[in-house]
Amino acid sequence: MANSIIIKNLTKIYKTRSINKNQVKALDNVSFSIERGIVFGLLGPNGAGKTTLIKILLGIVFPTSGTAEILDKNISNYEIRKSIGYLPENHKFPNYLTGEEVIVYYAKLNGFNISKNSPQVENVLKLVKMEKWRKVKIKKYSKGMMQRLGLAQAIVHEPEIIFLDEPTDGVDPIGRKEIRDILIDLKNKGKTIFINSHLLSEVEMVSDKVAILNEGKLVKFGTVDELTVNKQICEIKTEKPLSGDLVNLLQKKFTMKINNNLLTLEISNNNDLNNFMDELRKAEINIIGVNQKKTSLEDLFIKSLTEKNN
Ligand SMILES: Nc1ncnc2c1ncn2[C@@H]1O[C@H](COP(=O)(O)OP(=O)(O)O)[C@@H](O)[C@H]1O
Ligand SMILES: [Mg+2]
Repeated sequence: MANSIIIKNLTKIYKTRSINKNQVKALDNVSFSIERGIVFGLLGPNGAGKTTLIKILLGIVFPTSGTAEILDKNISNYEIRKSIGYLPENHKFPNYLTGEEVIVYYAKLNGFNISKNSPQVENVLKLVKMEKWRKVKIKKYSKGMMQRLGLAQAIVHEPEIIFLDEPTDGVDPIGRKEIRDILIDLKNKGKTIFINSHLLSEVEMVSDKVAILNEGKLVKFGTVDELTVNKQICEIKTEKPLSGDLVNLLQKKFTMKINNNLLTLEISNNNDLNNFMDELRKAEINIIGVNQKKTSLEDLFIKSLTEKNN
């Protein structure tokens, strides 16, 4: 079983009662698949349709058309729920509960009957580094702690696939790093993780694959490398400026600019960079620094949102 999630031609149209529009196309013929055991990031601005897609996969919202499968079962099959964990966007846990009570409460809602003293509760609190806070009412928690607890309730029943809707929204940088570390830990345990986010940099750091959704349409899909590798810029600093002859030779083979001992090279892959280095080494040039600048996912993100119908 290679894929954990297969999405085929999903479309969702919400009927609304707004005066100027009586329907919203939240998803427009979206198809893609996610392999098992990867971290997948679904990116897009607010209103792109990300939450709608997760809710369809969870069976909370029904698609207008199209189908999806999770772990080889159609999403209409309720059996799948046992294999899924979910951290909703803007969740509000009852704030008079303690951390451990939240975990037990949501586990029970999901048909998983445990008590505060169950080893599962202990394990999951350890995993999200919240053991010290387990007996404290959650109204005392910071946003980062709340999200870590949210993660704990999403994974206490040891699901195969974990859906996280904007897990780091409103969390400070240290809290975000803590959440990322937990996600990497979960991935190393073989889980498939599906993250919705409008915060690119977050997803870029942890995701094996990403998709960009805009106005309900899938505009990009692939690994972060595949999506960003098209053109890279390399800055190479040499000990001394190059001789005129060497510059002529290099400029015949490569696209580069020269400013004293700083060479700015355009490459499309690492081979190009290695070939360039070989030429420099052949000429016995001392290299004192190499700085590779990738097109960032952010550049790509902005580009795909502005270039419509690409
Ligand atoms: N229950 C609903 N009824 C009507 N429109 C909705 C409903 N839920 C979401 N929408 C609309 O669908 C679009 C996609 O929303 P959503 O899936 O929440 O996007 P995202 O999570 O990417 O911000 C938005 O235009 C939103 O206003
Ligand atoms: Mg959302």
